[in-house]
Amino acid sequence: MKIAIHNNKGFAERWIAYCKERNISYKIVNCYDNNIIEQLSDCDAFMWHFHHASPKDFLFAKQLLYSVQMSGKKVFPDFNTVWHFDDKVGQKYLLESINAPLVTTHIFYTKEEALSWAKNTEYPKVFKLRGGAGSTNVQLVKKQSEAIKLINQSFSKGHKSDSVVSFKDSFNKYQKHKITFLELLKNGVRHIIPTEFTKVYGKQRGYVLFQDFIPNNHFDIRIIVIGEKAFGIKRLVRENDFRASGSGNIIYRKDEIDEECVKIAFELNQQLKTQCIAIDYVFKNTQPLIVEISYGFLACVYDSCEGYWDSQLVWHKGHVNPYGWMIDNIITK
Ligand SMILES: Nc1ncnc2c1ncn2[C@@H]1O[C@H](COP(=O)(O)OP(=O)(O)O)[C@@H](O)[C@H]1O
Ligand SMILES: [Mg+2]
Repeated sequence: MKIAIHNNKGFAERWIAYCKERNISYKIVNCYDNNIIEQLSDCDAFMWHFHHASPKDFLFAKQLLYSVQMSGKKVFPDFNTVWHFDDKVGQKYLLESINAPLVTTHIFYTKEEALSWAKNTEYPKVFKLRGGAGSTNVQLVKKQSEAIKLINQSFSKGHKSDSVVSFKDSFNKYQKHKITFLELLKNGVRHIIPTEFTKVYGKQRGYVLFQDFIPNNHFDIRIIVIGEKAFGIKRLVRENDFRASGSGNIIYRKDEIDEECVKIAFELNQQLKTQCIAIDYVFKNTQPLIVEISYGFLACVYDSCEGYWDSQLVWHKGHVNPYGWMIDNIITK
């Protein structure tokens, strides 16, 4: 078994380290080369942790991965794992179709239907674009007039899909010495001059998506399942905000994580048959509800996890190496 790995920032450096450690045969390939398929010809598997906000990756990552999968090679992420990635519209249909506990999600493809719904529903609601991460494209809609404004925009000039961390988040990180002044400045500039991603991705229009707002959540829970193993974190919401994703305030203690979320995550993955799935939950009273799913995550955030659950929900304390699990599963499954 020889694994082709596209070496970029993300999981790749950890995959490569694991392969070296275990003497697993691998080859570095470059997905952006015209002859990528040829480069893969002497390999049995292909792994690429592509990024949702890369203008290049967005253009062809899924298409390349599905193509290689169709040729009979193993790929990571495969079709089941990734077709719904960065696509909250796809996730609504997928999770509804298997009766998963998704936060009630409303989608409209005409202005008339959206407006008629907005005039007869209760507020607040949560407005989301189909793509985005770190809460960049998620906002609270407190009243009908705000919903109407968003709907009108969805069916006229559209919305800019933001891949850039908000200036407020960036400033908070600067204050906590997590980023330099130069990085803060760069973030500011990205809000003024459109990024390459914004230009390639284009405006979001022609649909509008809202979720019911689940109040009183001071955190969300993210559980990641890879095969028969799961690990998780608790993310606190930003100050005076309802959004946790991207806040950077993370709690790693196992007893802070409701195991019902872990149980649901394993059950869900049995149906979805993914290689890797991160599931974000908020709580309606004590009931966990899913807000979104994703195959990718920021590796360094999970280095402090204290252990993992197996599919019997038995806890195994110790260092977790999800990137090694991904390789093991590619080799054995
Ligand atoms: N329907 C909802 N009700 C309450 N809080 C929500 C809801 N949807 C999202 N959130 C909060 O907002 C954050 C960002 O939402 P999410 O859909 O996960 O977007 P992103 O893809 O940017 O992470 C979540 O981490 C959660 O804290
Ligand atoms: Mg999220």
